[in-house]
Amino acid sequence: MTAAPDSPSRDEVLALIASDPPHVHPGAPQGVWAAAKDCLKYISDVAQPGARTIETGCGATTIVFAASGANHTSVFLDASEGEAVVSWCAAHGIETGNIAFVPGSSSQSLPKMEIGDLDLVLVDGCHGFPFPQLDWYYMASHLITGGVLIVDDTQLAAPYQLRQYLTADPRWELIRAGSQWAAFRRIGSGSLDEEWESQEFFSPVGLRVEAAKRKVRALGGRLKRKLKL
Ligand SMILES: C[S@@+](CC[C@H](N)C(=O)[O-])C[C@H]1O[C@@H](n2cnc3c(N)ncnc32)[C@H](O)[C@@H]1O
Repeated sequence: MTAAPDSPSRDEVLALIASDPPHVHPGAPQGVWAAAKDCLKYISDVAQPGARTIETGCGATTIVFAASGANHTSVFLDASEGEAVVSWCAAHGIETGNIAFVPGSSSQSLPKMEIGDLDLVLVDGCHGFPFPQLDWYYMASHLITGGVLIVDDTQLAAPYQLRQYLTADPRWELIRAGSQWAAFRRIGSGSLDEEWESQEFFSPVGLRVEAAKRKVRALGGRLKRKLKL
């Protein structure tokens, strides 16, 4: 999709979001719980016209995807969010015909959706455990080799844990560590179904400490038996 001649440039779109934020999320101080500026800029830089993209969450990021000309899907809670994005875009000369709006919880919607190959995935919906993991599981399995995954709000526990897992997994390359988000390039493709034995690279510190304690206890037991204490 090519942008209409009078539509704003990508940089102008970012400036417009900052100067005239869309009113998407009731209760948000500026009208929208937007991703950080450096995250919006990154999406604006990497989302190419015609790219196959999907996100959980709707708002400033959706506008950036719309302006990029990507074939984009947004999965979010309340239909009013999509409507607010459409009217903000219309007022600012940004096409939204390239966006599929899917209201409803991602836990219900994503398992039922037919999602084809993807170039770019943004996880920025519900931030409570295990939603980032669930969103990642259903969306990132469709990323092609070399496709990009962005996890937003990694200052929060569940997105942080997802980031930790992906950083440990050699099948994901950390390509950008943002202010409170991270981007990974997928090395490989296909289903993410697998057992824990395929994930031995993932060994959080707490688990290693427990394993060390077990070893020490076993050693102590053997020593006692040997000394017949
Ligand atoms: C922090 S906002 C992010 C919005 C957007 N990425 C932006 O930059 O403006 C969180 C979004 O998560 C969505 N959300 C919350 N719970 C969800 C759920 N269970 N399923 C899908 N989306 C959800 C909300 O509808 C909201 O749009």
